Amino acid sequence: MDKTILVFMGPPGAGKGTQACRLAEKYGIPQISTGDMFRAMLANPTTDTEKEIKAIVDRGDLVPDDLTIKMVEDRILQEDCRNGFILDGFPRTVEQAKALDEMLETHVLRINHILQLDVDSNELVARKEGRLFAPNSQKVYHVKYNPPRVAGKCDESGEDLIQREDDKPAATRHRLDVYYTQTAPVSLFYDSAQRLIKVDGNGKMDDIFNRLVAIIEQTK
Ligand code: AP5
Ligand code: MG
Repeated sequence: MDKTILVFMGPPGAGKGTQACRLAEKYGIPQISTGDMFRAMLANPTTDTEKEIKAIVDRGDLVPDDLTIKMVEDRILQEDCRNGFILDGFPRTVEQAKALDEMLETHVLRINHILQLDVDSNELVARKEGRLFAPNSQKVYHVKYNPPRVAGKCDESGEDLIQREDDKPAATRHRLDVYYTQTAPVSLFYDSAQRLIKVDGNGKMDDIFNRLVAIIEQTK
């Protein structure tokens, strides 16, 4: 069976994690979210380096390229990626995009689809501001659009839901700036090589999911 390798692009709050998680389930391949990996790694920071990286993530800046690239390369070589994987939140700089091309070439792998979720900017802020997050299960909810069954508790683990530091208003504004200065050039990099598929990320989660599946199935 051919590997299915998908890359998700789009601004913070666009719904990359939401859709990547559903597609991962449908296709039986792992969702690799660099944001989730950093949050898991930094849940209890002890060393100075961990504390430094946690501060970077909390204020909405990007973790240095060398560390991020190494983390992804190690991850995609793990056994559960044998049938493919979905990258969610990587690459986020042109440097990372070039490194991804190189690492895939080295391992004789090829990206099937680079999908960019485009969402209106007011909607992005509303999605981020209402997001709730379960630190252990890493499940994502929204107070209004995707509420848990019991208010403030994760459906799966029962743990308390929290607001991510980088979902607070000042960090949200900063993350959007970081996206437009550092990550939008990655879209241009892929678009100019006709590798980018722009997908309307507005509307209901189910409709967006169906749009994505249609694109993936069309060219599978
Ligand atoms: P990361 O966790 O990757 O953040 P992100 O993916 O950019 O953005 P978000 O998680 O904020 O949004 P999302 O698009 O996944 O939306 P979601 O599905 O949750 O990164 C965090 C940090 O880690 C970075 O700032 C950086 O510091 C570091 N980092 C990560 N990767 C890095 C890299 N490659 N290089 C360097 N540093 C890196 O949806 C948002 C909300 O909306 C949810 O509440 C959801 O329920 C709701 N929602 C989703 N879809 C819909 C819909 N259709 N209608 C209504 N509500 C919806
Ligand atoms: Mg996410």
